Amino acid sequence: MAIALVIISLLVTFLLVGVVYVKHQYTYWKRKRVPFSEPEFPYGNFKHINRQSLASFSTKHYRRWMGTGSRFFGLFLFVEPQLFITDPDLIKTVLIKDFNYFPERGIFHNVRDDPLSAHLFSIDANEWRSLRARLTPTFTSGKMKQMFSTLGAVGEKLSQFLTKEVGSGKDVQIKDTMARFTIDVIGSCAFGIECNSLKEPDSEFRKFGKLVFEKPRHSVLIIFFLKLYPEAAKTLRLKLLRSECSEFFYKIVKNTVEYREKNSVERNDFLNLLIQLKNDGKQLSMNEIAAQSFIFFGAGFETSSSNQTFCLYELALNQDCQEKARNCVLEAMKKHGGMTYEAVCEMSYLDHCINETLRLYPSLAILERRAFKDYQIPDSDVVVPKGMKIYIPAFAIHRDERYYPNPDVFDPDRFRPEESAKRHIGTFLPFGEGPRICIGLRFGMLQSRVGLATILSQFKVGPSARTPVPIEFSGDTTVLRPKGDLWLKFEPL
Ligand code: HEM
Repeated sequence: MAIALVIISLLVTFLLVGVVYVKHQYTYWKRKRVPFSEPEFPYGNFKHINRQSLASFSTKHYRRWMGTGSRFFGLFLFVEPQLFITDPDLIKTVLIKDFNYFPERGIFHNVRDDPLSAHLFSIDANEWRSLRARLTPTFTSGKMKQMFSTLGAVGEKLSQFLTKEVGSGKDVQIKDTMARFTIDVIGSCAFGIECNSLKEPDSEFRKFGKLVFEKPRHSVLIIFFLKLYPEAAKTLRLKLLRSECSEFFYKIVKNTVEYREKNSVERNDFLNLLIQLKNDGKQLSMNEIAAQSFIFFGAGFETSSSNQTFCLYELALNQDCQEKARNCVLEAMKKHGGMTYEAVCEMSYLDHCINETLRLYPSLAILERRAFKDYQIPDSDVVVPKGMKIYIPAFAIHRDERYYPNPDVFDPDRFRPEESAKRHIGTFLPFGEGPRICIGLRFGMLQSRVGLATILSQFKVGPSARTPVPIEFSGDTTVLRPKGDLWLKFEPL
């Protein structure tokens, strides 16, 4: 009886302490006099995060405070306060000038149990600095030019595939086609492997690429949970990636590296550059090489494939822009005798279309950082404590009519050089900004140009009866992608 009483009183005390703690936590932003949306226990403001895309989630909250003069607002992830910053000047300061306060994203990774998760995108400040410095030379424009032959060869395969597939005109599942093209490019450039997913839709790379993005190990809510309590998750030995995916990618890299070293094979690709770094005494282990190859694949495949898909979708609905883009492609090809590196670098109207697509559909709807030390927000008395996550709602900013009149309209002229020059750096963030800006930006643009130019130079693309207007976004992943299949009508020119 006495023991039962002790247990009950302990439970009641525990419950009371829990209630007081939660109530205290939920007054955090009120106490700091920061605008916030009322949370609901236990999810805070993230209750329906699995049922919508991060783009619509963040835009809903952004619009609530838009135009009120506030430069940031607070939300709660479970019981933890999180800060969203919305003011372009403050964004610029956080990402660039005060980068030393925010040098990491605070993404869960677990080098012991899930070595492929410890890549450039996820690792924390100290390891990141030296790795980024070692990898930066891999992405110079000189290296891009060298790699162009590998990329161009896959462009050629896309052209052959579509010519065979489309015949005299057909609906094409464009999301799938661009994913297969991009997998072949990245597979070839990051792993040095002929993936052949254009030829064989069920190739292993396609299968595992799909698993990573379409069936991740955890739901979006759990991914946020892991970001919040990374140390607890590591102690519990939780993993981010599906084991079969890690095993597949690790094995491919290990076998290829060993094969190349044994047979002295040199190729113009990222893997070659990673092997050189390993052998130049830059201390890159096999796990590190595999993790970087994996992120080049992960970050380079879905982003670029979605960009090409969304761009073709918009060009199908905006025929005048498509015509202009095609003329620019054909002129550059004529001048340079085909789809050469020089030609794709001179397709400026196509670049405007790609940038306008990145504005309307940035792959990462939200950029994220974690405070490395206490940070006093300039011109305010709010202090972001060490360890707090901050978010930058790039998608919502890109659709804010104060920065982009008629924000939902596809208008590539917004990216004419004179217009771009007027733009605040904090209002166009498809590749992020500051020292942690996308390292593969140049390659991503190059890949999109080759894919789009290949298609536009040979086909007229239009909407089919199955094309959704407006487009819906998938709520299953953290990367912005269309929901379900996306069909467009292709006619040979
Ligand atoms: C259209 C294509 C692409 C888009 C839209 C894109 C977008 C992004 C964004 C938004 C970030 C986060 C930046 C930030 O937090 O400030 C990022 C980081 C990154 N991206 Fe990309 N990306 C693309 C292509 C690529 C490619 C092709 C690669 C590799 C081959 C790549 C590798 C990475 C890596 C490694 C990071 C982490 C950089 C770091 O933390 O130092 N991306 N990308």
